[in-house]
Amino acid sequence: MEFNVPTIYTRMLESPHILIAGTTGSGKSVALNSLLYSAMLEAIETGKEATFTYIDLKMIELVDWRDLPNCDRYVDKPEDAPKALKDAVDAMYARYKVMQTRHQKETDEGHVYIVVDELADFVNDKGCLERLVTLGRLGRAAHYHLILCTQDPSRATLSASLLQNMTCRVALRTKSPIESRQIVGVAGAEKLPAHGRALMDMDGQVENIEVPMVSDEAISGLIEVLGVEVKHTQSSTKTVVVPCPDFVKKTWEERTGRTLKKPYELSEIDILRAQVRDLTNANRSLQEDLDRALKQLRR
Ligand SMILES: Nc1ncnc2c1ncn2[C@@H]1O[C@H](COP(=O)(O)OP(=O)(O)O)[C@@H](O)[C@H]1O
Ligand SMILES: [Mg+2]
Repeated sequence: MEFNVPTIYTRMLESPHILIAGTTGSGKSVALNSLLYSAMLEAIETGKEATFTYIDLKMIELVDWRDLPNCDRYVDKPEDAPKALKDAVDAMYARYKVMQTRHQKETDEGHVYIVVDELADFVNDKGCLERLVTLGRLGRAAHYHLILCTQDPSRATLSASLLQNMTCRVALRTKSPIESRQIVGVAGAEKLPAHGRALMDMDGQVENIEVPMVSDEAISGLIEVLGVEVKHTQSSTKTVVVPCPDFVKKTWEERTGRTLKKPYELSEIDILRAQVRDLTNANRSLQEDLDRALKQLRR
């Protein structure tokens, strides 16, 4: 399988924070999953560490990513959202403390994405809006990023101060010109086709863009590459997710002359681990993920 990141998503991901808004059925979840796919693929390719916290109160839109090793937290209960955001804010401030001590302008730690499928479901719960605003205001230098979706761009959901910090705003088809203006500052998103197009406001420049859909097949392919199911052969079946990039698999297959098939045997995983060491000397986090998964598996 070929993995390609559509360039529009690369451009969006250059922005510290992304907002995707549009009416029901306009393609928010599709764009969001395509963005996640792009972010993860770019992280693999550039060797930069990226972890993800998901707030998915619809319970199904982001669940595919939940079992990957790069998932910090998956929240599907409204009562858990305030705590998840509080923990993110605290962790971000902890990074700032370190940056202050070291006189750094930007952290050297990995990127953390806070991903929300529907903002309106919880943003008015205790403290949530304030915490999102804080993450939006201070996130950039600490490598904390918001990726937010909503079908309600009114001030009831998106306060002016939250909106102000959303550096990349994408309006898929909206119900009205008013909603279009609320998102990108101009009317027009109400006239867009049902899906595939959007108005994007990046740093004050509005443009009409194509929003390609990354296929389910490509997404599940990537998930398979990032997380490999391992079956515990003794006693009951235990599934542990181990990251295994395509190139590792390929090299393993070339060197052993065997096809690597799920579920992997423990002995195979040991060889795989050595491969990861060989091939990704620079990628410490990948090695650590593998080690952690192995430890879990051996328990
Ligand atoms: N970029 C796109 N290209 C083609 N079809 C799309 C695209 N975006 C959305 N769709 C179609 O529209 C449907 C609804 O999209 P979805 O992302 O679930 O909308 P929303 O989350 O805004 O309610 C999808 O199931 C898909 O069939
Ligand atoms: Mg949706």
